[in-house]
Amino acid sequence: MSAMSAETHRILVLHGPNLNLLGVREPGVYGTTTLEGINASLAALARELGVELRTFQSNSEGALVDAIQGALADCCAILINPAAYTHTSVAIRDAVAATALPAVEVHLSNIHAREAFRTHSYLAPVAVGQICGFGLDSYLLGLRALVSLLEK
Ligand code: DQA
Repeated sequence: MSAMSAETHRILVLHGPNLNLLGVREPGVYGTTTLEGINASLAALARELGVELRTFQSNSEGALVDAIQGALADCCAILINPAAYTHTSVAIRDAVAATALPAVEVHLSNIHAREAFRTHSYLAPVAVGQICGFGLDSYLLGLRALVSLLEK
């Protein structure tokens, strides 16, 4: 395990709408892992990688925009599953672009293998990359990708 230092990277982890219902929500699509389970796995990986996380979930677009803007104060990267706002929100895309912080977009499901409206992401063009279709591992791979980027 890496030791934390004054230079420890802090990464904002954002979960969008309805992800608070993971575990009971369409388990055939999203699996049975709860949001608490995802956050616990991310926290364990963060300890291993020697980074700090700030985690936030909201069903509200404005609250997510506020959290993204807030990252400017003390975070150096963003790991985000914008959920349904992926496909609708110019505001979240603009907020991420405004911070100029490296962001990785993650999805539990493969959004490219579902309904046509899910194949478009407003966020993807301003993200470093997108990882989808691996369930919980999408988040863990996303965190690893961000940490690797920060260490370059
Ligand atoms: C999701 C995919 C979105 O299309 C959907 O609206 C979600 C979850 C995913 O993680 O697979 O809420 O972002």
